[in-house]
Amino acid sequence: MISAPMEGSIVFLDSGVGGLPYLERSRRLLPGRELHYIADDAGFPYGTKKPSQIEDILLDRTRRLRARLHPRVLVIACNTASQAGLSALRKANPDLEIVGTVPAIKPAAASTKSGRIAVLATERTVADPYLDDLIARYASDVEVIKLPAQPLVSFVERSFLGSTASERRTAVMPYLLPLLEAGVDRIVLACTHFLHLEPDFSSACETAGAWEVEIVDSLEGVANRLHSLCSADSAPLVARATCSSPHSGRFFLTSEGPADPAYTAWAERFGLSGPEAL
Ligand code: DGL
Repeated sequence: MISAPMEGSIVFLDSGVGGLPYLERSRRLLPGRELHYIADDAGFPYGTKKPSQIEDILLDRTRRLRARLHPRVLVIACNTASQAGLSALRKANPDLEIVGTVPAIKPAAASTKSGRIAVLATERTVADPYLDDLIARYASDVEVIKLPAQPLVSFVERSFLGSTASERRTAVMPYLLPLLEAGVDRIVLACTHFLHLEPDFSSACETAGAWEVEIVDSLEGVANRLHSLCSADSAPLVARATCSSPHSGRFFLTSEGPADPAYTAWAERFGLSGPEAL
């Protein structure tokens, strides 16, 4: 099928389904805008790869998505990829607006009462000096526990759909319990996949009587950044946007061959058509 290039669209990219909540939140601020989603299933997972591998993957996917979708803005809806590859990506694409995802250390550190916060992320993000820089900059006066939770990424990607609340509770508890025992009152979800489990983290905290604990994410920050970038757009883009249906958007996969049927369900769940191959 030959499709027309879509100038003015916004493309979200993650290793899998983690960035979907970011697309959903941004859609509220940008009604009528074409928001497309790319799940890089061929590159999944990013969190166990070296920074140089992630950088190469991002450069390749960006070349491909630019040729196909001509986006106005690219959102790297992935903490691991943003940390490892954003600079190289911006350098190679100076004419493209790129929004990254930054762990919400700042709001967590600013609002903690216990003076102890936790960051839950992929293996790569936890090991990355970028996270230490963020902590030094915004959380130097609080204690920060960094906890890698790579198996949770696979749980969300492979097992979240169709899982029961009790299975999700079982998945989050090994990470949550030690943090509650350590007395943290803010838990930063610094991997976009974990956003799908936010209600499960919150309800598990309530069940444990840890009412003071708040789960912190970067959804608002990314959506606001995108909104401010797009509000400067010229009239033709607005005109185009009003022509699209309120929730228009397509879901792409990077792998070749038949798509896992779960991705059809993910696309539907977030109001996107597809999946189709990038
Ligand atoms: N969703 C990604 C993140 O925010 C990475 C998950 C993975 O592929 O390991 O870090």
